[in-house]
Amino acid sequence: MAFDFAPLLAPGAPAPAVKWPGWPKYNFTFGNNAPEEVPIDDLRAAVDKVLAREGRKLAEYRLEQGPQGYRPLRQFLVKKLKQDAAIDCTIDDLLIVSGSLQGLDLINGALLAPGDTVICERDNYEGTLNRFTRRGVNAVPIPLDPDGMRMDALEAELAALKRKGIRPKFIYTIATVQNPTGTILSLDRRKKLLALAEEYGVPIVEDDCYADLTWDGERPPAIYSLSKSQNVIHVGSFSKTIAPALRLGFVVAPWAILSRLLALKTDAGTGGLEQMMLAEYCEAHFTGHVKELRQRFRAKLDTLVAALNEQFGTAAEFDYPPGGIFLWVKLPDNVDTMRLREVAREAGVLINPGSEWSVDKEHSRCRMRLCFASPSHEEIREGIALLADLCRREFGVPARSGNVERS
Ligand SMILES: Cc1ncc(COP(=O)(O)O)c(C=O)c1O
Repeated sequence: MAFDFAPLLAPGAPAPAVKWPGWPKYNFTFGNNAPEEVPIDDLRAAVDKVLAREGRKLAEYRLEQGPQGYRPLRQFLVKKLKQDAAIDCTIDDLLIVSGSLQGLDLINGALLAPGDTVICERDNYEGTLNRFTRRGVNAVPIPLDPDGMRMDALEAELAALKRKGIRPKFIYTIATVQNPTGTILSLDRRKKLLALAEEYGVPIVEDDCYADLTWDGERPPAIYSLSKSQNVIHVGSFSKTIAPALRLGFVVAPWAILSRLLALKTDAGTGGLEQMMLAEYCEAHFTGHVKELRQRFRAKLDTLVAALNEQFGTAAEFDYPPGGIFLWVKLPDNVDTMRLREVAREAGVLINPGSEWSVDKEHSRCRMRLCFASPSHEEIREGIALLADLCRREFGVPARSGNVERS
Protein backbone atom coordinates (compact mmCIF):
# COMPACT_ATOMS: atom_id res chain seq x y z
CA MET A 1 0.00 0.00 0.00
CA ALA A 2 1.38 3.38 -0.98
CA PHE A 3 1.75 5.94 1.78
CA ASP A 4 -1.26 8.27 2.00
CA PHE A 5 -0.15 11.91 2.01
CA ALA A 6 -3.69 13.29 1.67
CA PRO A 7 -4.47 13.73 5.39
CA LEU A 8 -1.16 15.58 5.88
CA LEU A 9 -1.61 18.21 3.19
CA ALA A 10 -1.55 21.82 4.33
CA PRO A 11 -4.90 23.62 4.26
CA GLY A 12 -5.35 25.38 0.94
CA ALA A 13 -2.91 23.12 -0.92
CA PRO A 14 -3.80 23.33 -4.63
CA ALA A 15 -5.47 20.49 -6.51
CA PRO A 16 -3.00 17.82 -7.66
CA ALA A 17 -1.20 18.36 -10.94
CA VAL A 18 -1.93 15.99 -13.79
CA LYS A 19 0.95 14.07 -15.33
CA TRP A 20 2.25 15.71 -18.47
CA PRO A 21 0.89 13.77 -21.47
CA GLY A 22 3.51 15.17 -23.89
CA TRP A 23 2.77 17.59 -26.71
CA PRO A 24 0.38 16.66 -29.51
CA LYS A 25 1.35 17.22 -33.14
CA TYR A 26 -0.28 20.65 -33.40
CA ASN A 27 0.45 22.82 -30.38
CA PHE A 28 -0.92 26.37 -30.35
CA THR A 29 -0.49 26.80 -26.58
CA PHE A 30 2.10 27.70 -23.97
CA GLY A 31 4.06 30.58 -25.48
CA ASN A 32 7.13 28.55 -26.37
CA ASN A 33 9.87 29.61 -28.76
CA ALA A 34 10.68 27.49 -31.82
CA PRO A 35 13.65 25.11 -31.41
CA GLU A 36 15.42 26.52 -34.48
CA GLU A 37 15.25 30.05 -33.03
CA VAL A 38 17.43 29.26 -30.00
CA PRO A 39 20.83 30.72 -30.94
CA ILE A 40 22.76 27.59 -30.02
CA ASP A 41 26.14 28.39 -31.59
CA ASP A 42 26.43 31.84 -30.07
CA LEU A 43 25.21 30.60 -26.69
CA ARG A 44 27.82 27.82 -26.76
CA ALA A 45 30.56 30.28 -27.60
CA ALA A 46 29.37 32.60 -24.85
CA VAL A 47 29.29 29.91 -22.19
CA ASP A 48 32.76 28.69 -23.15
CA LYS A 49 34.19 32.16 -22.98
CA VAL A 50 32.61 33.14 -19.70
CA LEU A 51 33.46 29.84 -17.98
CA ALA A 52 37.09 30.09 -19.05
CA ARG A 53 37.27 33.64 -17.72
CA GLU A 54 35.31 33.48 -14.49
CA GLY A 55 33.80 30.01 -14.08
CA ARG A 56 35.28 29.71 -10.61
CA LYS A 57 32.69 32.18 -9.40
CA LEU A 58 30.27 29.24 -9.49
CA ALA A 59 31.94 28.07 -6.27
CA GLU A 60 29.88 30.66 -4.41
CA TYR A 61 26.16 31.02 -3.97
CA ARG A 62 25.26 34.11 -5.99
CA LEU A 63 28.58 34.20 -7.91
CA GLU A 64 30.30 36.60 -5.49
CA GLN A 65 27.84 39.24 -6.70
CA GLY A 66 25.32 39.65 -3.88
CA PRO A 67 21.64 38.82 -3.95
CA GLN A 68 20.47 40.98 -6.88
CA GLY A 69 22.13 38.95 -9.62
CA TYR A 70 25.22 38.71 -11.82
CA ARG A 71 26.52 42.23 -12.32
CA PRO A 72 27.35 42.08 -16.07
CA LEU A 73 23.79 40.91 -16.78
CA ARG A 74 22.38 43.81 -14.79
CA GLN A 75 24.80 46.15 -16.60
CA PHE A 76 23.53 44.89 -19.95
CA LEU A 77 19.94 45.43 -18.81
CA VAL A 78 20.62 48.99 -17.65
CA LYS A 79 21.84 49.82 -21.17
CA LYS A 80 19.08 47.89 -22.92
CA LEU A 81 16.26 49.33 -20.84
CA LYS A 82 17.53 52.85 -21.43
CA GLN A 83 17.80 52.33 -25.17
CA ASP A 84 14.59 50.38 -25.76
CA ALA A 85 12.18 51.38 -22.99
CA ALA A 86 13.51 54.84 -21.94
CA ILE A 87 14.03 53.50 -18.43
CA ASP A 88 16.68 55.28 -16.39
CA CYS A 89 17.93 52.88 -13.77
CA THR A 90 21.12 51.58 -12.21
CA ILE A 91 22.16 48.03 -11.45
CA ASP A 92 20.98 48.63 -7.88
CA ASP A 93 17.39 49.05 -9.09
CA LEU A 94 17.47 45.62 -10.75
CA LEU A 95 16.79 42.17 -9.37
CA ILE A 96 17.46 39.12 -11.53
CA VAL A 97 14.79 36.47 -10.98
CA SER A 98 14.14 32.90 -12.12
CA GLY A 99 11.71 33.85 -14.88
CA SER A 100 9.35 36.79 -14.61
CA LEU A 101 6.91 34.42 -12.93
CA GLN A 102 9.16 34.44 -9.90
CA GLY A 103 9.10 38.23 -10.08
CA LEU A 104 5.28 38.17 -10.09
CA ASP A 105 5.26 35.71 -7.17
CA LEU A 106 7.56 38.00 -5.16
CA ILE A 107 5.39 41.05 -5.91
CA ASN A 108 2.22 39.17 -5.00
CA GLY A 109 3.89 37.81 -1.88
CA ALA A 110 4.90 41.27 -0.74
CA LEU A 111 1.61 43.01 -1.48
CA LEU A 112 -1.36 40.64 -1.58
CA ALA A 113 -3.45 39.05 1.15
CA PRO A 114 -6.72 37.10 0.81
CA GLY A 115 -9.64 39.45 0.23
CA ASP A 116 -7.52 42.13 -1.45
CA THR A 117 -8.50 43.77 -4.72
CA VAL A 118 -6.32 44.20 -7.81
CA ILE A 119 -7.19 45.77 -11.17
CA CYS A 120 -6.15 44.20 -14.47
CA GLU A 121 -7.01 43.99 -18.16
CA ARG A 122 -10.17 41.89 -18.67
CA ASP A 123 -8.53 39.38 -21.02
CA ASN A 124 -5.31 38.39 -19.36
CA TYR A 125 -2.38 36.03 -18.88
CA GLU A 126 -3.61 32.80 -17.32
CA GLY A 127 -0.53 32.57 -15.06
CA THR A 128 -1.41 35.91 -13.49
CA LEU A 129 -5.13 35.19 -13.15
CA ASN A 130 -4.45 31.82 -11.49
CA ARG A 131 -2.09 33.48 -9.07
CA PHE A 132 -4.74 36.00 -8.05
CA THR A 133 -7.31 33.23 -7.60
CA ARG A 134 -4.97 31.10 -5.53
CA ARG A 135 -4.32 34.01 -3.19
CA GLY A 136 -8.03 34.68 -2.75
CA VAL A 137 -7.67 38.08 -4.41
CA ASN A 138 -10.52 39.84 -6.19
CA ALA A 139 -9.41 40.76 -9.75
CA VAL A 140 -11.41 43.67 -11.18
CA PRO A 141 -11.44 43.48 -15.00
CA ILE A 142 -11.03 46.52 -17.26
CA PRO A 143 -12.05 46.06 -20.92
CA LEU A 144 -9.59 46.67 -23.73
CA ASP A 145 -9.91 48.23 -27.17
CA PRO A 146 -7.24 48.42 -29.91
CA ASP A 147 -5.30 50.99 -27.82
CA GLY A 148 -5.13 48.70 -24.80
CA MET A 149 -6.78 49.08 -21.38
CA ARG A 150 -9.65 51.58 -21.56
CA MET A 151 -8.94 54.51 -19.32
CA ASP A 152 -12.59 55.64 -19.07
CA ALA A 153 -13.47 52.22 -17.65
CA LEU A 154 -10.46 52.28 -15.32
CA GLU A 155 -11.39 55.72 -14.02
CA ALA A 156 -14.98 54.64 -13.38
CA GLU A 157 -13.82 51.48 -11.59
CA LEU A 158 -11.32 53.32 -9.38
CA ALA A 159 -14.03 55.81 -8.40
CA ALA A 160 -16.55 53.01 -7.71
CA LEU A 161 -14.06 51.11 -5.56
CA LYS A 162 -13.21 54.27 -3.63
CA ARG A 163 -16.91 54.84 -2.90
CA LYS A 164 -16.94 51.35 -1.41
CA GLY A 165 -13.86 52.17 0.68
CA ILE A 166 -11.62 49.79 -1.32
CA ARG A 167 -8.06 50.74 -2.23
CA PRO A 168 -6.76 48.27 -4.83
CA LYS A 169 -3.31 46.88 -4.11
CA PHE A 170 -2.10 47.50 -7.64
CA ILE A 171 -3.03 47.85 -11.28
CA TYR A 172 -1.48 44.96 -13.22
CA THR A 173 -0.94 45.69 -16.90
CA ILE A 174 0.74 43.96 -19.82
CA ALA A 175 0.85 47.30 -21.58
CA THR A 176 3.15 46.50 -24.51
CA VAL A 177 1.84 43.62 -26.66
CA GLN A 178 -0.80 42.46 -24.26
CA ASN A 179 -1.38 38.78 -23.57
CA PRO A 180 -3.70 37.60 -25.12
CA THR A 181 -5.05 40.55 -27.16
CA GLY A 182 -1.72 41.77 -28.56
CA THR A 183 -2.68 45.42 -28.00
CA ILE A 184 -0.21 48.17 -27.14
CA LEU A 185 -1.29 50.82 -24.63
CA SER A 186 -0.92 54.19 -26.34
CA LEU A 187 1.34 56.90 -24.94
CA ASP A 188 -1.64 59.09 -24.02
CA ARG A 189 -3.18 56.25 -22.10
CA ARG A 190 0.10 55.53 -20.32
CA LYS A 191 0.08 59.11 -19.08
CA LYS A 192 -3.57 58.89 -18.08
CA LEU A 193 -2.92 55.60 -16.30
CA LEU A 194 -0.15 57.20 -14.27
CA ALA A 195 -2.31 60.21 -13.45
CA LEU A 196 -5.12 57.94 -12.22
CA ALA A 197 -2.70 55.74 -10.29
CA GLU A 198 -1.36 58.81 -8.51
CA GLU A 199 -4.78 60.27 -7.86
CA TYR A 200 -6.02 57.07 -6.25
CA GLY A 201 -2.75 56.07 -4.56
CA VAL A 202 -2.49 52.75 -6.39
CA PRO A 203 0.84 51.43 -7.72
CA ILE A 204 1.27 49.84 -11.14
CA VAL A 205 2.83 46.48 -12.00
CA GLU A 206 4.04 46.62 -15.61
CA ASP A 207 4.60 43.13 -17.06
CA ASP A 208 6.71 43.74 -20.15
CA CYS A 209 7.88 40.36 -21.41
CA TYR A 210 6.73 40.85 -25.03
CA ALA A 211 7.93 44.42 -25.54
CA ASP A 212 10.95 43.40 -27.66
CA LEU A 213 8.71 41.65 -30.15
CA THR A 214 6.89 44.48 -31.95
CA TRP A 215 7.09 44.02 -35.72
CA ASP A 216 8.63 47.42 -36.39
CA GLY A 217 10.89 47.32 -33.33
CA GLU A 218 9.14 50.43 -31.97
CA ARG A 219 7.42 50.63 -28.63
CA PRO A 220 6.10 53.46 -26.44
CA PRO A 221 8.25 54.34 -23.42
CA ALA A 222 7.74 51.99 -20.50
CA ILE A 223 5.22 53.18 -17.91
CA TYR A 224 8.06 52.89 -15.40
CA SER A 225 10.03 55.49 -17.35
CA LEU A 226 7.13 57.98 -17.33
CA SER A 227 6.41 57.81 -13.61
CA LYS A 228 7.42 60.77 -11.50
CA SER A 229 6.59 59.20 -8.16
CA GLN A 230 8.33 55.80 -8.10
CA ASN A 231 4.98 54.00 -8.10
CA VAL A 232 5.73 51.45 -10.85
CA ILE A 233 7.24 47.97 -10.63
CA HIS A 234 8.55 46.81 -14.01
CA VAL A 235 8.96 43.10 -14.79
CA GLY A 236 10.79 41.70 -17.81
CA SER A 237 11.99 38.38 -19.17
CA PHE A 238 14.36 36.67 -21.57
CA SER A 239 11.86 33.84 -22.10
CA LYS A 240 10.27 35.23 -25.23
CA THR A 241 13.42 36.52 -26.89
CA ILE A 242 15.99 33.84 -26.07
CA ALA A 243 14.54 30.74 -24.40
CA PRO A 244 11.91 30.13 -21.71
CA ALA A 245 13.78 27.13 -20.28
CA LEU A 246 16.62 29.39 -19.15
CA ARG A 247 14.21 30.79 -16.52
CA LEU A 248 15.68 34.27 -16.49
CA GLY A 249 13.73 37.42 -15.85
CA PHE A 250 14.19 40.69 -13.98
CA VAL A 251 12.41 43.26 -11.86
CA VAL A 252 13.13 47.01 -11.89
CA ALA A 253 11.69 48.77 -8.87
CA PRO A 254 12.36 51.48 -6.32
CA TRP A 255 14.29 50.24 -3.31
CA ALA A 256 11.26 50.78 -1.04
CA ILE A 257 9.61 47.76 -2.67
CA LEU A 258 12.64 45.99 -4.23
CA SER A 259 14.02 45.49 -0.70
CA ARG A 260 10.76 43.72 0.19
CA LEU A 261 10.94 41.45 -2.84
CA LEU A 262 14.55 40.65 -2.04
CA ALA A 263 13.57 39.64 1.47
CA LEU A 264 11.14 37.13 -0.03
CA LYS A 265 13.61 35.69 -2.56
CA THR A 266 14.93 32.90 -0.38
CA ASP A 267 16.16 30.56 -3.12
CA ALA A 268 19.86 31.43 -2.59
CA GLY A 269 20.12 32.92 -6.07
CA THR A 270 18.91 32.47 -9.64
CA GLY A 271 20.88 30.01 -11.82
CA GLY A 272 24.46 31.34 -12.11
CA LEU A 273 25.49 29.61 -15.32
CA GLU A 274 22.44 30.91 -17.14
CA GLN A 275 23.11 34.47 -15.97
CA MET A 276 26.77 34.33 -16.98
CA MET A 277 26.05 32.82 -20.37
CA LEU A 278 23.28 35.28 -21.14
CA ALA A 279 25.28 38.33 -20.11
CA GLU A 280 28.12 37.26 -22.38
CA TYR A 281 25.74 36.43 -25.23
CA CYS A 282 23.54 39.51 -24.98
CA GLU A 283 26.34 42.08 -25.09
CA ALA A 284 27.31 40.88 -28.54
CA HIS A 285 24.16 39.41 -30.04
CA PHE A 286 20.86 40.36 -28.39
CA THR A 287 19.86 43.21 -30.68
CA GLY A 288 20.65 41.40 -33.95
CA HIS A 289 19.03 38.19 -32.76
CA VAL A 290 15.77 39.89 -31.78
CA LYS A 291 15.61 41.75 -35.06
CA GLU A 292 15.61 38.45 -36.96
CA LEU A 293 13.25 36.80 -34.52
CA ARG A 294 10.63 39.51 -35.10
CA GLN A 295 10.69 38.88 -38.85
CA ARG A 296 10.33 35.13 -38.45
CA PHE A 297 7.52 35.37 -35.91
CA ARG A 298 5.70 37.84 -38.14
CA ALA A 299 5.99 35.43 -41.08
CA LYS A 300 4.39 32.74 -38.91
CA LEU A 301 1.61 35.12 -37.92
CA ASP A 302 0.95 35.74 -41.60
CA THR A 303 0.74 32.00 -42.22
CA LEU A 304 -1.69 31.66 -39.32
CA VAL A 305 -3.85 34.54 -40.55
CA ALA A 306 -3.94 33.11 -44.08
CA ALA A 307 -4.85 29.66 -42.74
CA LEU A 308 -7.65 31.08 -40.57
CA ASN A 309 -9.01 33.13 -43.45
CA GLU A 310 -8.93 30.15 -45.74
CA GLN A 311 -10.35 27.60 -43.29
CA PHE A 312 -12.69 29.66 -41.13
CA GLY A 313 -13.53 32.59 -43.41
CA THR A 314 -15.61 35.18 -41.59
CA ALA A 315 -16.27 32.76 -38.71
CA ALA A 316 -12.90 33.70 -37.19
CA GLU A 317 -12.59 37.37 -36.19
CA PHE A 318 -9.39 38.95 -34.94
CA ASP A 319 -7.29 42.09 -35.01
CA TYR A 320 -3.85 41.69 -36.58
CA PRO A 321 -1.51 42.18 -33.59
CA PRO A 322 1.44 44.62 -33.78
CA GLY A 323 3.81 42.02 -32.34
CA GLY A 324 4.10 39.08 -29.96
CA ILE A 325 3.52 35.37 -30.33
CA PHE A 326 -0.24 34.89 -30.22
CA LEU A 327 -3.52 35.71 -31.88
CA TRP A 328 -6.75 36.26 -29.92
CA VAL A 329 -9.56 34.90 -32.05
CA LYS A 330 -13.32 35.26 -31.72
CA LEU A 331 -15.44 32.41 -33.10
CA PRO A 332 -19.23 32.55 -33.56
CA ASP A 333 -21.19 32.96 -30.32
CA ASN A 334 -22.38 29.36 -30.20
CA VAL A 335 -18.83 27.99 -30.04
CA ASP A 336 -17.74 27.07 -26.52
CA THR A 337 -13.96 26.96 -26.78
CA MET A 338 -13.66 24.88 -23.58
CA ARG A 339 -15.57 22.16 -25.41
CA LEU A 340 -13.61 22.79 -28.61
CA ARG A 341 -10.38 22.39 -26.63
CA GLU A 342 -11.44 18.89 -25.51
CA VAL A 343 -12.47 17.77 -28.98
CA ALA A 344 -9.32 19.25 -30.50
CA ARG A 345 -7.06 17.69 -27.89
CA GLU A 346 -8.33 14.24 -28.75
CA ALA A 347 -7.52 14.95 -32.40
CA GLY A 348 -4.00 16.18 -31.63
CA VAL A 349 -4.53 19.97 -31.66
CA LEU A 350 -3.97 22.08 -28.55
CA ILE A 351 -5.59 25.52 -28.16
CA ASN A 352 -6.08 27.86 -25.22
CA PRO A 353 -9.82 28.36 -24.55
CA GLY A 354 -10.74 31.99 -23.96
CA SER A 355 -12.33 31.55 -20.56
CA GLU A 356 -9.00 30.50 -19.06
CA TRP A 357 -7.52 33.76 -20.39
CA SER A 358 -10.04 36.25 -19.14
CA VAL A 359 -11.61 37.49 -15.91
CA ASP A 360 -14.93 37.64 -17.78
CA LYS A 361 -15.75 34.03 -18.64
CA GLU A 362 -18.92 34.86 -20.59
CA HIS A 363 -17.20 37.41 -22.85
CA SER A 364 -14.37 35.00 -23.63
CA ARG A 365 -16.39 31.77 -23.94
CA CYS A 366 -16.26 31.83 -27.76
CA ARG A 367 -12.69 33.12 -27.96
CA MET A 368 -9.39 31.26 -28.14
CA ARG A 369 -5.71 32.11 -27.97
CA LEU A 370 -3.41 30.67 -30.62
CA CYS A 371 0.38 30.77 -30.13
CA PHE A 372 2.19 30.82 -33.43
CA ALA A 373 5.86 31.05 -32.42
CA SER A 374 6.67 27.37 -31.88
CA PRO A 375 4.74 25.43 -34.56
CA SER A 376 6.25 25.30 -38.05
CA HIS A 377 4.49 26.96 -41.00
CA GLU A 378 3.33 23.54 -42.15
CA GLU A 379 2.01 22.62 -38.70
CA ILE A 380 0.14 25.93 -38.56
CA ARG A 381 -1.56 25.26 -41.90
CA GLU A 382 -2.42 21.62 -41.10
CA GLY A 383 -3.43 22.30 -37.51
CA ILE A 384 -5.82 25.11 -38.45
CA ALA A 385 -7.41 23.01 -41.20
CA LEU A 386 -7.98 20.22 -38.68
CA LEU A 387 -9.35 22.66 -36.11
CA ALA A 388 -11.82 24.08 -38.66
CA ASP A 389 -13.07 20.57 -39.45
CA LEU A 390 -13.52 19.74 -35.78
CA CYS A 391 -15.23 23.04 -35.13
CA ARG A 392 -17.68 22.46 -37.96
CA ARG A 393 -18.44 18.93 -36.80
CA GLU A 394 -19.02 20.00 -33.21
CA PHE A 395 -20.64 23.44 -33.65
CA GLY A 396 -21.70 23.68 -37.30
CA VAL A 397 -19.21 26.48 -38.03
CA PRO A 398 -17.58 27.38 -40.29
CA ALA A 399 -20.33 26.04 -42.59
CA ARG A 400 -18.52 27.31 -45.64
CA SER A 401 -15.44 29.42 -45.79
CA GLY A 402 -13.11 31.10 -48.25
CA ASN A 403 -12.53 28.66 -51.05
CA VAL A 404 -13.13 25.55 -48.97
CA GLU A 405 -16.56 23.96 -49.38
CA ARG A 406 -17.48 21.89 -46.33
CA SER A 407 -19.75 18.87 -46.77
C1 LIG B 1 2.36 38.25 -19.50
C2 LIG B 1 3.32 37.21 -19.05
N1 LIG B 1 4.01 37.40 -17.92
C3 LIG B 1 4.89 36.49 -17.49
C4 LIG B 1 5.11 35.31 -18.16
C5 LIG B 1 6.09 34.32 -17.62
O1 LIG B 1 7.31 34.45 -18.21
P1 LIG B 1 8.64 33.81 -17.64
O2 LIG B 1 8.98 32.68 -18.51
O3 LIG B 1 9.63 34.93 -17.70
O4 LIG B 1 8.41 33.38 -16.22
C6 LIG B 1 4.42 35.07 -19.36
C7 LIG B 1 4.64 33.81 -20.10
O5 LIG B 1 3.96 33.46 -21.01
C8 LIG B 1 3.49 36.04 -19.80
O6 LIG B 1 2.78 35.86 -20.91
